[in-house]
Amino acid sequence: MKTRTDENLEEVSFDEFDEIMNPRSDEQDFDRVVGNAVSRRGFLKSTVVFGGISALGSVLIPDALLAAEDRFTFDSIPTNDLDTITLPEGYESEVLVKWGDPIWSKGVDFDHATRGTGESQAMAFGDNNDGMDIFPFEDKLLLVVNNEYTNRKIIWGNRPEGKAESDDDIVKGKLAHGVSVLEIRLTDGQWSIVKDSPFNRRITPDTEVNLTGPAAGHELLKTAADPTGTVSKGTWNNCGNGRTPWGTYLACEENFNGYFSASSEEYELSAEQKRYGISTKDWGYGWSKVDDRFNIEKHPNEAHRAGYIVEIDPSNPNSVPKKRTALGRFKHENAEVVINADGRVVVYMGDDERGEFIYRYVSNGVYAPGGDTDSLLDDGKLYVAKFHDNGAGEWLELSKESTGMNSMAEICVYTRMAGSQVGATTMDRPEWVAANPHSAEVYCALTNNKNRGIKPNKGGDLTPVGGANPRKDNKYGQIVRWRPNGGDHTATGFAWDLFVIAGNPAVHQDDRAGSANVHKGNMFNSPDGIKFDSNGMLWVQTDGKYTNEGDFEGQGNNQMLLADPVSGEIRRFLVGPKECEVTGLSWSPDRRTMFVGIQHPGEKGNSHWPEGGEATPRSAIITIRRTDGGIVG
Ligand code: FEO
Ligand code: CA
Ligand code: CA
Ligand code: CA
Repeated sequence: MKTRTDENLEEVSFDEFDEIMNPRSDEQDFDRVVGNAVSRRGFLKSTVVFGGISALGSVLIPDALLAAEDRFTFDSIPTNDLDTITLPEGYESEVLVKWGDPIWSKGVDFDHATRGTGESQAMAFGDNNDGMDIFPFEDKLLLVVNNEYTNRKIIWGNRPEGKAESDDDIVKGKLAHGVSVLEIRLTDGQWSIVKDSPFNRRITPDTEVNLTGPAAGHELLKTAADPTGTVSKGTWNNCGNGRTPWGTYLACEENFNGYFSASSEEYELSAEQKRYGISTKDWGYGWSKVDDRFNIEKHPNEAHRAGYIVEIDPSNPNSVPKKRTALGRFKHENAEVVINADGRVVVYMGDDERGEFIYRYVSNGVYAPGGDTDSLLDDGKLYVAKFHDNGAGEWLELSKESTGMNSMAEICVYTRMAGSQVGATTMDRPEWVAANPHSAEVYCALTNNKNRGIKPNKGGDLTPVGGANPRKDNKYGQIVRWRPNGGDHTATGFAWDLFVIAGNPAVHQDDRAGSANVHKGNMFNSPDGIKFDSNGMLWVQTDGKYTNEGDFEGQGNNQMLLADPVSGEIRRFLVGPKECEVTGLSWSPDRRTMFVGIQHPGEKGNSHWPEGGEATPRSAIITIRRTDGGIVG
C-alpha cells in the first residue's frame, strides 16, 4: 500500500488519498457513529460494543443518574436575529464593561466619533473580549479577560475605508489587544469595575514577558532585541483561557501569525512558517509599520516567540507573565487544567485550525496546595491525540524518539510538525476543551471544517471523513468527549464518543440534520466556547454563521446553550445581538452572577449593540442574574 509520504497532493485527489489511507468499513459509517455517540446511554452502548476498552467500568456513571431527571432551571428560548440579548424568563442581564471604557480615571470616555486614540486605548478596556475567569484575592474580585483581536471596520470605522490612516491608528489597534485585569465589585445590587484599583492592568503586545520551559534560550527564540531567547514582548490574539488551582490565569495565543509581514512579497517562506500560516502579508493590522519585530524578513525568529500559553498572576500587578513553551506552540484555543488523582497537572488543549490536533500536557511534578508551582507548567510531557474509528483513542507522546526531531525545544516550537510525525488525528478545528468536575470525562468543541474530506491540513496530513470527524465539508460542527481509561487523566488510552453533532433538521434530512439531541427548537452551528458549571452542566457558546438563511435558516444569531451531559438534552439559554460571537464565561464565587462575553457585535456593520441608536458597536462583558437571586450555575 502507498503511504502518505509517497503521495503528491497536487496530483492525486483527496478521495483517492482517503481510500488509500483509510479504507472505510461499515463500522465507520455515519449512522453507526451517530448511533453510538449521542447520549450517555449511547456512550455506554458503545463501550459495550467495544468491550475491549479496558477500565471503563470504573468511570461509568451509576444507573440511577441516567434517569431522565430535569436538571434545567429554564425553558429553551426561541432563536431570533434581534440586536439585543435575549434570555429565558426570570433572568436579566446588564453590561459590565465595554471596549474602550477607561479603567483608570486618567483615561477618557470612549469617543464614538473617533473611536479613540492610541493614548486613550492604553488606559481602557481592550477590544473583542474572549476567554475570562474571576479570581478572588484577599477581599477583592479580579476579573481577567483576553482581548483577542480587532475588526478593522469597527476599530477604524471612523475612517472612510475602514483602514488605518496613521501610525496612531495602528497603535490604537495594537493596544486594544492583549489581556485586561480588572477589579470588579457588587455594590447595591450593581456590578461595576473599580476604576484605579491597584490590581487593574493592561497586558499588551508591548508588555515584557518571559519565555520559560524547554524552548527558552534556544536558538530559534533568539532575536536582535533578545539574544538570550528568554525575554519576549507582549501577547496578542489571546482566545480562550484557562485557570490553575494556584490562582493564575492562562491566556492562550491563537492566530498570532496574522500580525507578521515581510518587506517584500518575494520573501521565501519556510515550510515551518507556512505550516503556522505566517505570510508576507499581515491581516491588515499593519504592526510591522510601527514595530520592526513584526517584519519576518528582518526578524524571522520573532514569530517563534508567539503561539504559546501565557501564565499571568493577577494578584501581583508587577508580575512578569510567562510563556510556557512546554505546552507547545500552535493556535491555542484554551487550556483546561485538571489535577489528576495523583496530583499531577494535566492540561488539555486544542489547536484551532482545519485539520489540526488536540494535545495533552502532563506535569512531571505534583501540585501541592501552597507549594511551589513554578515548574509545573515547564517540566512535563506533551502528547497529541489519536482517535481510532472504533471509539478507542490514545495519547501519543511527543519526544525526540517518537518525532525524530532534534530536541524538546524544537518540538515545543514546531509542535504541529511533531504531531504530524507521530500520526495524530486531524480534527475539525478544535476549539475549547472542558473537563467535567464530577466525572473523569473531557469534552472538546470541534467547530466546523469546510475542508474535511476535501483538503489536507497545512502540513499535508489527510483529513479523512469518519470517526470523530464524521461529515465531509462539515458546516455545523460537533462536540467530542473522551473518558480516560481508569478515570486517570494521565493514562495512555481513552474511550470517545460524540456528545452532539450539530445540524439543521429544519433544512436537512441527511447527516446534516445532526444527532438525535438536536431539534428545531435548539439547533445551532459552530460550537466554540464550552465550560462546565459547578452542577456538572455544560455551557456551549457558538461562533457560527448568523445569516439565518439556507443551511442556517432558523438558527438566528450566535447563542449560548446549556447541555446535560447525562441525559444529552440541550436547551437554548441566550441569543446574542447581531453579528456577534458569544464567547467567554465565568461566575461570581457565590454563583449568583454569570459573566458572559459578547464579541464583535456588528462585525459586518449591522449592529449598534449595546448602546443602540447610532452608537458604535462594542464588544462587552455582560452579567446575568436570576430575578429571584438564585444560582446561575
Ligand atoms: Fe479565537 Fe478558535 O477561536
Ligand atoms: Ca473560540
Ligand atoms: Ca471559533
Ligand atoms: Ca471571534
